[in-house]
Amino acid sequence: MGAVRFMSLFLVALVSAAAAARTVAAAGAPPREVTVGALFTYDSTIGRAARLAIEIAVDDVNADRTVLAGTTLKLMTQDTNCSGFLGTIEALQLMEKNVIAVIGPQSSGIGHVISHVVNELHVPLLSFAATDPTLSASEYPYFLRTAISDYFQMHAVASIVDYYQWKEVTAIFVDDDYGRGGVSALGDALIAKRARISYKAAIPPNSNTDVINDVLFRVNMMESRVIVVHVNPDTGMNIFSAAKKLQMMADGYVWIATDWLAAVVDSSSGSKDLKYMSHIQGLIFLRQHTPESDTKNKFMSKWNNVARNRNISFGLNSYGFYAYDSVWTVARAIDQFLISGLQINFSKDPRLNGSNDSTLHLSTLEMFDGGDQLLQQLLLTNFTGITGPVQFDSDRNLVHPAYDILNVGGTGSRLVGYWSNYSGLSVAAPEILYQKPPNTSTSAQRLYNVVWPGDSTTTPRGWVFPNNGQPLRVGVPIKASFKELVSIGQGSDNVTGYSIDIFNAAIKLLPYPVPCQFIAIGDGRKNPNYDDIISMVAANSLDAAVGDFAIVRNRTKIAEFTQPFIESGLVIVAPASKTSSSAWAFLKPFTLEMWFSFSTMFFSHRICGCLNRGPKDGGVAAIVDEMPYVDLFLSKHCNFRIVGQEFTKEGWGFAFQRDSPLAEDLSTAILQLSESGQLQRIHDEWFSEPSCASDDSEVGATRLGLGSFWGLFLVCALICIFALVVFFVRICWQYSQYSNSEAADEPGAAAAAAAAAAAAAATTERQKRPTRLGSFKELIQFVDTKEAEIRRTMKQRSSDKDNQAAGPSDPHPVAAA
Ligand SMILES: *[C@@H]1O[C@H](CO)[C@@H](O)[C@H](O)[C@H]1NC(C)=O
Ligand SMILES: *[C@@H]1O[C@H](CO)[C@@H](O)[C@H](O)[C@H]1NC(C)=O
Ligand SMILES: *[C@@H]1O[C@H](CO)[C@@H](O)[C@H](O)[C@H]1NC(C)=O
Ligand SMILES: *[C@@H]1O[C@H](CO)[C@@H](O)[C@H](O)[C@H]1NC(C)=O
Ligand SMILES: *[C@@H]1O[C@H](CO)[C@@H](O)[C@H](O)[C@H]1NC(C)=O
Ligand SMILES: *[C@@H]1O[C@H](CO)[C@@H](O)[C@H](O)[C@H]1NC(C)=O
Ligand SMILES: *[C@@H]1O[C@H](CO)[C@@H](O)[C@H](O)[C@H]1NC(C)=O
Ligand SMILES: *[C@@H]1O[C@H](CO)[C@@H](O)[C@H](O)[C@H]1NC(C)=O
Ligand SMILES: *[C@@H]1O[C@H](CO)[C@@H](O)[C@H](O)[C@H]1NC(C)=O
Ligand SMILES: *[C@@H]1O[C@H](CO)[C@@H](O)[C@H](O)[C@H]1NC(C)=O
Repeated sequence: MGAVRFMSLFLVALVSAAAAARTVAAAGAPPREVTVGALFTYDSTIGRAARLAIEIAVDDVNADRTVLAGTTLKLMTQDTNCSGFLGTIEALQLMEKNVIAVIGPQSSGIGHVISHVVNELHVPLLSFAATDPTLSASEYPYFLRTAISDYFQMHAVASIVDYYQWKEVTAIFVDDDYGRGGVSALGDALIAKRARISYKAAIPPNSNTDVINDVLFRVNMMESRVIVVHVNPDTGMNIFSAAKKLQMMADGYVWIATDWLAAVVDSSSGSKDLKYMSHIQGLIFLRQHTPESDTKNKFMSKWNNVARNRNISFGLNSYGFYAYDSVWTVARAIDQFLISGLQINFSKDPRLNGSNDSTLHLSTLEMFDGGDQLLQQLLLTNFTGITGPVQFDSDRNLVHPAYDILNVGGTGSRLVGYWSNYSGLSVAAPEILYQKPPNTSTSAQRLYNVVWPGDSTTTPRGWVFPNNGQPLRVGVPIKASFKELVSIGQGSDNVTGYSIDIFNAAIKLLPYPVPCQFIAIGDGRKNPNYDDIISMVAANSLDAAVGDFAIVRNRTKIAEFTQPFIESGLVIVAPASKTSSSAWAFLKPFTLEMWFSFSTMFFSHRICGCLNRGPKDGGVAAIVDEMPYVDLFLSKHCNFRIVGQEFTKEGWGFAFQRDSPLAEDLSTAILQLSESGQLQRIHDEWFSEPSCASDDSEVGATRLGLGSFWGLFLVCALICIFALVVFFVRICWQYSQYSNSEAADEPGAAAAAAAAAAAAAATTERQKRPTRLGSFKELIQFVDTKEAEIRRTMKQRSSDKDNQAAGPSDPHPVAAA
């Protein structure tokens, strides 16, 4: 395309160089005739219908006295002959004849090229058939589409895909501007409906049957069975005859064709055309919607009369309606242009004053001075034509875009509904809906029943298993341990286990049969690498992986996982006998990393021994592993327990290839299993209750035992011992002080003994004992004596000593109370 664009720019440069100012119309009175050009491929499905329609339209305009009174509309047509190069040359030749507007071109590719020329020469281009949405007004200001953009058609297709809840479509398209632009719009429209194009099959223009067969063969290898065909009317039918031979027009397939097929079907006539109707049975196609009206019927009978008179054996199609309205649009705009007093002048293009050496004689090409004014009149168009209201919105699209949706059956086609930009899919005609407020709610979308390919009335699922109906290749890991989860029985395809049971139960819930072939991975002596199995699924060596596959982030990046069928967080297991393990419950938040250094990440058959030996003897203190493994392990080993809570949240799921529709359906099935309680029943079958359930091992995980508080006890004990030691040291010190003072005042002891009644016994006893430190019994008695008493006694003794030293005159020493 780039080359063609470059060529057109080059030509524009040549053209403009020779342009010279020239005035066509005499000042004042309206011109006697105005010339408009028309560009299309005469010998094409669209062109044949459009050619007659345009001729009839020009006749009608000239016969009408209200539009362009006194001025004759003259038409100059050029054949673009389906060729970018010829189309450009023909367009330039048309410009040479000083046309003030051009109707056409028919093809989007030529539209891209010519738009550069008309932009330069300020000649409005009204295309009735270039539907490529990328032909935009912002890039080409003088381009005006008088038909519906494929942008809307692709939204209609996406609505149909969404209505039948298909998620993936294959797009077959012609590899040119029209095909690529349309499919790009389809991709966007599908994404808005949460569907997507899973495979784009481009067919080069004018491909032969071999190329088409190759493309269809590749399409058939894909999962999707919803095929949207967006090609040219003149070669498109070849695809269906090839598809019919490849048995791709059979039960299970969905074919949706864009409006090109409507042009083919409507234009077909005679028995030779009926042959291919048998190729497209059950297909759905779109047609631009044009409301029924008297003017439309009048035009159709006129068209048929002319065709009959000219011995023409093909029929009218809806592009003819748009071509007819385009002529009227131009005529009305020129009428307004002339009424406003403007004249039709041409002048040379100052921008392109350059090479004068060309022998192409393009010097007659001139710029239309009033081009901008005419364009403004065109944008103000407001009348009702045979295609409905002709008006342009701010994006220069026709208002009220709508399509008929038809279903091929027998020798004809049946209307199953409408799509309008206003209300989506409906069985009521858009004209009726425009009277009501728009209703695009899902519940309001409706189509009549469709008979699908293969004469089937049940809506096709829209996809098949990859590899064309081969059984699903399901990889199952064969492990050395935990054979309850998945293991292989006798015979290679005989796998059993908890996860297999769930998988089979979920598959049974699907509304369609899914043949499965289990492929054992691993020899049962060493655990296979689970990431490798997931990678095999991603690389299409397997279709699914079933087993104890944790749904972790780096796996979900490469494969599609179902909903988890069991929760699986990491937990810590430690021997129940060791009190230290319970104490960790308190320390858990602080030393999580520390534990990993003690622990192995995964269970093995040596696990028991390791745990029992403990870290000092080369074993481990605790194990961190996923909950289901731990559940199975604990059901057989009572002397271990879970410490604390799960500290991650994960689950196990089945892995499928990216965007596999089966993953979604199985997720729904797993949720159904969960709701019906079957998931729990399967769980209970395989995860038996611990055989030693009576003791506290079940609740040990969270209950606090006496041992849980050993730290507290230790601290208490230490404080008590310290307090006792302090107490005894103090007692001993006091006792030694006491004994010393007693020895010192032995002679005056009699007086003291007489003074205190309570202390009498102790004192009398001491009096009898001559030893200084006294016996153990004496110490105990000392300890037993009240603190206050001892202090008082000692104080009294020291004051006695003082008294004796001061003078013996005092006969009564101070008595203790
Ligand atoms: C159009 O092209 C076809 C083949 O591409 C050729 O046979 C035919 O002569 C061409 N017609 C015109 C008018 O150039
Ligand atoms: C119309 O065409 C057919 C064959 O195409 C021919 O036999 C017949 O004479 C033609 N009629 C007229 C009126 O030209
Ligand atoms: C067109 O040409 C006529 C006569 O030369 C001149 O009077 C008139 O102004 C021109 N109109 C425009 C729009 O240039
Ligand atoms: C065109 O170019 C010639 C010479 O280069 C110059 O004299 C003339 O003024 C130019 N004309 C316009 C309209 O720019
Ligand atoms: C272009 O050529 C024509 C005659 O060949 C001459 O009259 C005209 O002045 C030339 N224009 C320029 C811009 O050279
Ligand atoms: C179009 O014309 C109709 C009457 O023919 C008028 O009611 C309507 O307002 C017009 N619309 C615009 C946008 O001018
Ligand atoms: C199509 O519908 C959308 C959303 O309802 C609206 O924004 C847009 O203007 C409509 N376009 C036309 C041409 O009616
Ligand atoms: C849209 O149509 C649905 C189904 O016909 C209806 O239930 C709903 O009320 C309608 N909504 C509006 C806004 O008309
Ligand atoms: C599958 O293997 C199990 C255990 O090895 C056995 O009991 C069962 O009969 C086998 N089933 C089939 C269908 O071979
Ligand atoms: C996922 O991450 C783990 C470590 O975090 C790594 O060992 C493994 O290879 C990764 N798997 C994939 C499929 O990238």
